[in-house]
Formats: sequence, structure tokens, C-alpha cells
Amino acid sequence: MPLDVRRLLQDAAGPHHQLQSEHVNPRFAKSLSLIGFDRTYVRAEGAHLVDANDQHYLDMLGGYGMFNMGRNNATVRQALTDFLAAETASLVQLGTPLLSGKLAEELKRRIPGFDYVYFTNSGAEGVETAIKFARRTTGREGILHASSAFHGLTTGALALNGAEVFRSGFGALLPGNRKIKYSDLAALEEALRAKDIAAFVVEPIQGKGVAIPDAGYLREAAHLCHKYGALFVVDEIQTGLCRTGRFLAMEHDSETGGNVDADIVVISKALSGGYVPIGAVLHKKAVYNKVFCSLEDCVVHSSTFGQGDMAMVAGLAALTALDETNAARNAQIMGDKLGQGLLAMKERFQFIKDVRWRGLMIGIEFGAPKSLSLRTAWTGVNALSKDLFCQAITIPLLADHRVLTQVSGHHTNTIKLIPPLVLTDEDVSWFLTAFEKVMVDLHKFPGPAWEALFRIGKNAVKRGAAPVPTAAA
Ligand SMILES: Cc1ncc(COP(=O)(O)O)c(C=O)c1O
Repeated sequence: MPLDVRRLLQDAAGPHHQLQSEHVNPRFAKSLSLIGFDRTYVRAEGAHLVDANDQHYLDMLGGYGMFNMGRNNATVRQALTDFLAAETASLVQLGTPLLSGKLAEELKRRIPGFDYVYFTNSGAEGVETAIKFARRTTGREGILHASSAFHGLTTGALALNGAEVFRSGFGALLPGNRKIKYSDLAALEEALRAKDIAAFVVEPIQGKGVAIPDAGYLREAAHLCHKYGALFVVDEIQTGLCRTGRFLAMEHDSETGGNVDADIVVISKALSGGYVPIGAVLHKKAVYNKVFCSLEDCVVHSSTFGQGDMAMVAGLAALTALDETNAARNAQIMGDKLGQGLLAMKERFQFIKDVRWRGLMIGIEFGAPKSLSLRTAWTGVNALSKDLFCQAITIPLLADHRVLTQVSGHHTNTIKLIPPLVLTDEDVSWFLTAFEKVMVDLHKFPGPAWEALFRIGKNAVKRGAAPVPTAAA
């Protein structure tokens, strides 16, 4: 009997949580229920999630930033429906597929300066690819990464992770791997001097904490890498595909001088409109010629699912959808409206330390307040857990205002907003109004907002667990 998908989804509208707890990851399910994030969404559109009562939720998390053209985008969906009907001869393996050639051509048109495209099934696989390509190209082993970096959680990518909490207990990961301070050109040059570094892998804006480097940093970093014979690898997995108001975030550096001369750029996330795992590693001929250096070595790096027709169709349609939704421009306009709106609140709310943004990648950082009573509350919560305070914002945002947000990494005290780029003026108002109300409540101590937070914190400490799952992206 064929699988009745509609029926399955209807029937399963109840037991999500139980199924996850029994068969997938019970502790994750538990931590979500502790903070009231164990909700059931039955539908999604644009920047909204919808529950069984047809209540809309504003999705400021965007599946970790992969629904740039909106959830269930009609163009991508139609292309995939047509594709399935076409019953193509996908993944022949010993063949030269049309669609990956088309997508590679289209990506090269949008990201000039690259010769070839290697397709992957995830962001981390793209980073693994870049590590291998850099090592083979230079004949060197060392890979540099920045403090607080996040490049994925497979072993090579994990080695380039600035947060010890992800690496702990997984043993030695990548020989020759070294960490330097982010946005520090002197530290980079110092590390490159020994000429044993194959590549510096870096995010144009760091996802953890939403750290924006000094203007010109990427351009100068590329120069330094080349001066010492290393490759410059830009991880645009989260920042790419119009998120920051440009197709790639590194393009912002060209506003202050010449282009960023990267050797490898890795993209993923929004490249399939959130439908199919996909990633792409754009690289130069000099890299290609060293890696795939002979007919014998022409598939020395590959993966069974790479270049699958379904992913490639989704990729081509996703690029069209980004154009149709005017994604880069909307990201810039709505990002500025949100950023300015939040910045205006900084004067009134002592807990807001900083608001940073580029397009729709926004960080709201919190810090110790001036007033004595609020400071007592701040100190008490931080004594329970360094990751707890932000939950005083994310929890009521969801519970009282139906807005989904995330904490941007361990010990950062920063909330990150990476919504779909189809956000409207109404969505911006929705978020700003909700955030303001949460701030007002939080600036009353003692008060119910703090009671709830201390309850969650103490509960978690009793269980010896982190109170909240800090997002891995
Ligand atoms: C900058 C960056 N690099 C790499 C990754 C890893 O991508 P994936 O989760 O698809 O492996 C992420 C994921 O969030 C990311 O944000």
C-alpha cells in the first residue's frame, strides 16, 4: 500500500514529542520542553510557522538561516514537483549530469572569480572539502581558524570550532590546526610566518555572537595568506545567498577597497530553499589542478549524493526565488528597520549592551545593568548558568508573543536573528513590539519574569544539565 503522506501528517500532529523522546534524542526533547519550545507546527509559509489552531508564529530562526526565500517558496516547490514528475536519470555516477553543470554555471555568474564548483550535501562537508583541497594544493598541513568560529560538527570542521564545548571528549581532531583571534591581522600574519599553513578558514561575520570584523579585514587577510603561500577560504554557509544584503557577505569589503581575493568559498543552507541537503565549494583552477591533478585522480574527492538532480533543481529554483523575492534588497531594508528599532531601545533598557547587524543577520547582546536591584538579578542568574539570561528573552518571546528566536552560542549573552529574508513591515513591527514588552517585564525585579527564569535555572542545575540547548549554528 502506498504511503499516505497527508494522513501520516494529520495522524502525527500529536505525538511528535513522544516519538522524538523514544527514538531520536530524548534529552534534546526534554530540554525543549523545559523552556516551552516543544510546540507542534503543522504548516509554514514565508517567515511564519503555523500551529494546528492556525495560529501564526514569527520565525526569526529560519531553520538556522536556510529559508532565505521564505519557507515553502512557491517557485522552488513547483520546480521540485515538476522535477519529480520528470523521472530523470539522476545520479548515474559514471555520467556528466546536465543540472549540476547548469547550477555551477549559475553560481559562477553570481560569484565571479572562480573556475569550478564541487557540490556537497551539507555545510560541514563543504568545510571538510576546503580543508582537503587546501592541504593538497599547498602540500602543507596546518589550518588556521578564528576564535569563536563555527564551521560545522564533523571532525575536520569541528577542529576549526572556537567553542571547546563542542570539541570536548571527541579526542584529537586535526593535526596542524591552530586558533587565532578574529579580526586581528597581526595575529594572522604571525601565524602565517612559519609558512606551514595550508589555509585560513574564516566566516565573514561570525555566527556565534554575530561578530562583524573591521572593514577591509577579509581583503587584507586574503593578501596576507597569499604573501605566505596559504589559501584563503571564506565560509559563507550562513552569511551567503543574500542574508546580509549582498549575495555574499564578503562583498561588503569591496565597498572599502578592492575585492576579497578568496581561493575557496563555501556555501550551503539556503542554496536549496530549505528542501534538499546541498552545499557548494567554489574554487580556482590552481586549486582544481592540484586536487584533481590527473585522469587517475579525477574523482579523488567525491560523495555518492553530490550533484543529485533533486538538489540541483532546488538550487537553480532557489536562486530564481532569491531574485523574485528581491531578497538582498529586502534583507537590507528590513534588517535596517529592525536594527534601528532595537538600537533605539538601548537607551531605555539597561540590559541591552549592543545591537549589531548586517542585513538580516542581527545580534542583540546583553550585559550587566547599572541599577543595583537589576544587577543582583543578573548576577544571580549568571551564577546559575552563563547561558541562562538570554532565555529570559527567548522564552517569553515564544510563550507570550509567538516569536521564535535563538541564543547565538555558549556564553555569548547574545540573541541572533536570522529570519527568512521575505520579512515584511508587519513582521518587523511584530518583533519590535514583542521584544519591547519582554524588555519592560525584564526590567522589573523582583517580578514574574525573573521568578520563571530562576525556576528553570534551578531545575536544570538540580538535574546537572544545561538549562537550554544552545543552538549549534
Ligand atoms: C558558518 C557555518 N559553517 C558551517 C556550518 C555547518 O553547516 P551544516 O550544519 O550544514 O553542516 C554552519 C551551520 O550552521 C555555519 O553556520
